[in-house]
Amino acid sequence: MRCFSCYMSEEKKPEKSLKKSIQEYEDTRAFASFTNISLKTESSRKRYIAEEIEKYRKGNIAAQIFTFNELSVATQKFNPKNLIGEGGFGRDIAVKKLDRNGFQGNREFLTEILILSLLHHPNLVKLVGYCADGEQRVLVYEYMQNGSLEDRLLDISLNQKPLDWNTRMKIAVGAARGLEYLHEKANPPVIYRDFKASNILLDESFNAKLSDFGLAKLGPTGGKNHVSTPVIGTYGYCAPEYAATGQLSTMSDVYSFGVVFLEIITGRRIIDNSRPSEEQNLITWAQPLFKDKKSFHLMADPLLGGDYPEKALYQALAVAAMCLQEEATIRPLISDVVTVLEYLSTDKSQKESEEDDDKDNNEDDDEEEDNDEEEEKEEEEEGSRRSS
Ligand SMILES: Nc1ncnc2c1ncn2[C@@H]1O[C@H](COP(=O)(O)OP(=O)(O)OP(=O)(O)O)[C@@H](O)[C@H]1O
Ligand SMILES: [Mg+2]
Repeated sequence: MRCFSCYMSEEKKPEKSLKKSIQEYEDTRAFASFTNISLKTESSRKRYIAEEIEKYRKGNIAAQIFTFNELSVATQKFNPKNLIGEGGFGRDIAVKKLDRNGFQGNREFLTEILILSLLHHPNLVKLVGYCADGEQRVLVYEYMQNGSLEDRLLDISLNQKPLDWNTRMKIAVGAARGLEYLHEKANPPVIYRDFKASNILLDESFNAKLSDFGLAKLGPTGGKNHVSTPVIGTYGYCAPEYAATGQLSTMSDVYSFGVVFLEIITGRRIIDNSRPSEEQNLITWAQPLFKDKKSFHLMADPLLGGDYPEKALYQALAVAAMCLQEEATIRPLISDVVTVLEYLSTDKSQKESEEDDDKDNNEDDDEEEDNDEEEEKEEEEEGSRRSS
């Protein structure tokens, strides 16, 4: 079981700062070789992991190194009463104790530290430090006041206020910018591979930050558009071609973005076994509705109470549908998605949508007037027919 806890403390400043970008490049190269390692025996793997951890300990990783004892004292022996979401103020650190031992767990732990030490962006969660004492593996992050998108969108309790339309668009654009940074600014590109509602964290102003980089993978180089790798990820969020063939590309992340964006619009989980069988898979439920514009309003989360700009709903659903296309090569680039979402989350889009609504209403009024005139004319004619 993973344990998440928080403790109150003054955030310690990292002792080592990241050196120049050239050094970052060297590290990324080391990371490239690391993430592609395949060692035959368990003992050689263990030795390799131990050496890697030691290297990062001595290296230029910005994250602070904690001892297990320090974290244990700070979190009262990882006491469940400190678990995130159980109240408390002034927290600024989230502590995650990994329980996945063995090679895969260690690899994810190191990948997480490397990615978050080398890549920095307002839409990626910050890693404050880590602990790798003996068999213990603990990660310490900045604390995100509003928990995850899953908490705020899909798991909300009756006394919680549902997210309004604008906040939903703000979250979507923030998460998309995080992906854009990984795909298009990081060099070599990074495929996130674990884009899902529980990994999108929200700060006090609902800025979205991506978390959990343990499954991240360096993108293809040398003109290729995918890397081949065993399928891991979360069922439902995985792109069909990756699930079927193990071919992973940045477009696999775009598909997962489409799934989460559809969850944001509809308030439905990708897989929800509590619904009637034909509605349990969100994509299967949505596909026929995507084909008919008249059905679009049926897809808006009922918790929005109808309070959304109609045109923006249409455009948002069009973006989701494009990201969810079976054929990976025709999905949009995440930077194109960011451009559309930035527009959708601006006042300009809202105003245009309101104007369109007004126009529609006026047209309706005009139509009614025309109808009235026609009816009057018909009545007159009818009257004159009767009298003649
Ligand atoms: N930095 C953080 N600040 C505040 N809450 C956090 C933070 N990181 C995670 N959480 C909370 O802890 C929950 C569990 O996160 P965790 O990453 O352990 O599991 P998960 O994302 O649900 O599943 P997975 O194990 O597949 O990643 C999140 O849904 C969120 O509510
Ligand atoms: Mg997670």
